[in-house]
Amino acid sequence: MTQDALCTEEEITTLVHAFYARVRADDLIGPIFDTHISDWDKHLAIMVRFWSSVLLRAGTYSGTPMPKHVALPNLQPHMFTRWLDLFHQTTETLPNRLFAERVEEAAQRIARSLWFGYQMNNHPDRLPTEFTHG
Ligand code: HEM
Repeated sequence: MTQDALCTEEEITTLVHAFYARVRADDLIGPIFDTHISDWDKHLAIMVRFWSSVLLRAGTYSGTPMPKHVALPNLQPHMFTRWLDLFHQTTETLPNRLFAERVEEAAQRIARSLWFGYQMNNHPDRLPTEFTHG
């Protein structure tokens, strides 16, 4: 039996492009991305593959996000809060509400795990904290 897909790759592409347009315009986290990303077309293509693999089991993403984030200097919990706020502002505009809900849930789960991994690697001497969201 076949199941209807949650969304199309085109919907994922639209989300990724709209989200990173917000990120790049953001005073707090925009500069972090602009410092570390020189080829935006490449980053956007990676992110489409990432979300397609998370949501559609496309299997087209083969990177390792944790070490890339662990290597970013001075990440703070409120930066993850901002990332998720911008993500929410973007998903709010999506007509496919099931897709919006699922991608938002996954983003929250992955953000939390990146933040815990970040703290465990960079501040093993401190108790990990949660970031506030929602
Ligand atoms: C404060 C929050 C965040 C910041 C500042 C941030 C920043 C970045 C930067 C600068 C890169 C490029 C790294 C490089 O190419 O060396 C990157 C890559 C990436 N980010 Fe984030 N990120 C954040 C949160 C998230 C979250 C919540 C997710 C997923 C839900 C995510 C998923 C990814 C993925 C999949 C990549 C591509 C890794 C690869 O090259 O394979 N990021 N991020």
